[in-house]
Amino acid sequence: MQYDVIIIGSGPGGYVSAIRCAQLGLKTAIIEKYKTFGGTCLNVGCIPSKALLDSSEHFHNAAHTFETHGIKLKDLKVDMPQMIARKDDVVAQNTAGITYLFKKNKIDSFEGVGSFVDKNTIKIAKADGSSENITGKNVVIASGSKPTALPFLPVDKKRIITSTEALNIKEVPKSMIVIGGGVIGLELGSVYARLGTKVSVIEFLPSIIATMDAGLGKELQRVLKKSLGMEFLMGHKVTGASVKGKTVTVTAQNSKGEDVTVEADYCIVAVGRTAYTEGLGLENIGIKTEERGNKIPVNAHLETAVPGVYAIGDVITGAMLAHKAEDEGTFVAETIAGQKPHINYNLIPGVVYTWPEVASVGYTEEQLKTNGVKYKSGSFPFKASGRAKASMDTDGFVKVLADEATDEILGVHMIGPRAADMIAEAVVAMEYRASAEDIARICHAHPTYTEAIKEAAMAATANRAIHM
Ligand code: FAD
Ligand code: NAI
Repeated sequence: MQYDVIIIGSGPGGYVSAIRCAQLGLKTAIIEKYKTFGGTCLNVGCIPSKALLDSSEHFHNAAHTFETHGIKLKDLKVDMPQMIARKDDVVAQNTAGITYLFKKNKIDSFEGVGSFVDKNTIKIAKADGSSENITGKNVVIASGSKPTALPFLPVDKKRIITSTEALNIKEVPKSMIVIGGGVIGLELGSVYARLGTKVSVIEFLPSIIATMDAGLGKELQRVLKKSLGMEFLMGHKVTGASVKGKTVTVTAQNSKGEDVTVEADYCIVAVGRTAYTEGLGLENIGIKTEERGNKIPVNAHLETAVPGVYAIGDVITGAMLAHKAEDEGTFVAETIAGQKPHINYNLIPGVVYTWPEVASVGYTEEQLKTNGVKYKSGSFPFKASGRAKASMDTDGFVKVLADEATDEILGVHMIGPRAADMIAEAVVAMEYRASAEDIARICHAHPTYTEAIKEAAMAATANRAIHM
C-alpha cells in the first residue's frame, strides 16, 4: 500500500482529517477535484459569505447608524466589483493557507476526481483526460454536499441562482426573492437587504430557522423586517418560477391555498443541501446511499459498511456545518491511529450570521417538552445590557434552559450582538456539565455582551437576574 490514508475531498472535513492523520504519523494523500483546496466552506460557503456579510454590515451602519454616533458622511456608495474582489482575496488567502499546511505536514495532494476501483484503490481522473491510481489501507470520503434542487424550478445560474452565484453578483439588485427562510437564505438575504435590495423571503413553514428554538426565529424575523425592510411570505409553498428578460417571476401557494406571484431581479434557491456522491464509484465497493438526502450510512466510528472506508462531514448524517465536519475529520484520523476519540453531537453549536447574530447549543424548549424533561428557563434581554446600549445593539435576548431538579444547563439560545462568539461560553460550560448557578457565580467582565449570559443564568437559577 502506498498510503495509510487516502482522503477524497479537501473541505473542512477532508483537510482537517489529512492534517490530523499526518500529525499522527500516517502517510496521507488527499484528492480534490477543484483547483483550490478548502471545499464549499472556504471557496463558496462560510468564508466568502462572511466576507460579504462584514462588508455589507459596514455599509449598512455607515448609512443608518453613523449619524447617530456623530459621524457624518457624504456621497456614500457601494462599489460592488470592489466588494466582490475583496471577498475573492479573502477566499484566496484562506485556500492558499491550506496549500501551505499540506506542504508543511508532508501530505501528498492530487487534483482530479477520485473514485473507487476497489476498497483500497482510488482512480484519480484529471482534467487533461489522464488518470492515475493510488492505493491506501484506509479511505476517508469527505465529498461534501451541493445545493438541493427543486425539480419544478430549474436554476439557470443567471437569474434563478444558488448561494454560489449569489456570492458573485456584480451589481446591487433592486429586488430579490429568496426561497427558503433557513440559514443561507437569511444570511445572503441580509447581505443584499443591507445594500439596499428589496428582499422577499418565501418560506414553506410558519417559522424561519425552524430547527432552532422557536423564540429565536420569531425575534429574528421581527428585527430583519424592522431594520432591513425584509418581507416574509410565511407558510408559502413555491410552485414554480420563470424568467423573462431580467425579471424572475415566482409563483407560490399560501396557507389558504391561494396563488401568489412575486417578481424580482434575482431569485436565490436556498432550500437545503444534498450529500454529494457523484463520480465516487460507490457502487464498485457496494456502498448504497440513503434514499432521503443521499447520505452515506456510517456506524459510531464513522466507518461505512466497508471496513477501512470512512465518511465524514456533509456527506453523512447530522448538521451540515464546517465545525462538525472538522471534528469528524479529527475523530476519524484518531480512530485510524488506534485512539478512542469522542464527539458530543448534542453540543455542536449552530450559528446564523445575520445581525443580530443567532446562536444555539443543546436542547431547544420544544425538544425538552417533547422529551418530557422538567426544566427551568431564564431570559435576559439585550435592551437591559449597558454594553448593548452603548453600541445600540439592543435587539434580542439570551435564554438559558436548566434541569428543574439538578440545575444542569440543557440548552442556551441567544439572538443578539456577537452571539456567534458568545455561544462558546455555553458550549464549554455544557461540556463540563455546569449548572446555571455555576455561570451565575462566575465573574463576567463589565461591560460586555457576555453579562447577558450570566444574567440569563441567574434568572434560570432562582429568578435573581440583577438588571431587570
Ligand atoms: P465540502 O466543504 O463540501 O468539501 C467537499 C470537497 O470534496 C469539495 O471541495 C469537492 O469538490 C470535493 N469532492 C467531491 N467529490 C470529489 C471527488 N470524487 N474527487 C475529488 N474531490 C471531490 N457552515 C458553518 O459551519 N458555518 C458557516 O458560516 C457556513 N456558511 C455557509 C455558507 C454557505 C453559502 C454554504 C453553501 C455553506 C455554509 N456552511 C457553513 C456549511 C459548510 O460549508 C459545510 O458544512 C462544510 O463545507 C462541509 O464540509 P465537508 O468537508 O463535509 O464538505
Ligand atoms: P436550511 O435547511 O437551513 O433551510 C432551508 C429552508 O427552506 C427551510 O426553512 C425549509 O422549510 C425551506 N424550504 C424547503 N423547501 C421549500 C419550498 N419548496 N418553498 C419554500 N421554502 C422551502 O438550508 P439552507 O439555508 O439551504 O442551508 C443549507 C445548509 O448549509 C444548512 O444545513 C446549514 O447548516 C448550512 N449553512 C450553515 C451556515 C451557518 O452555519 N451559519 C450558513 C449557511 C449554510
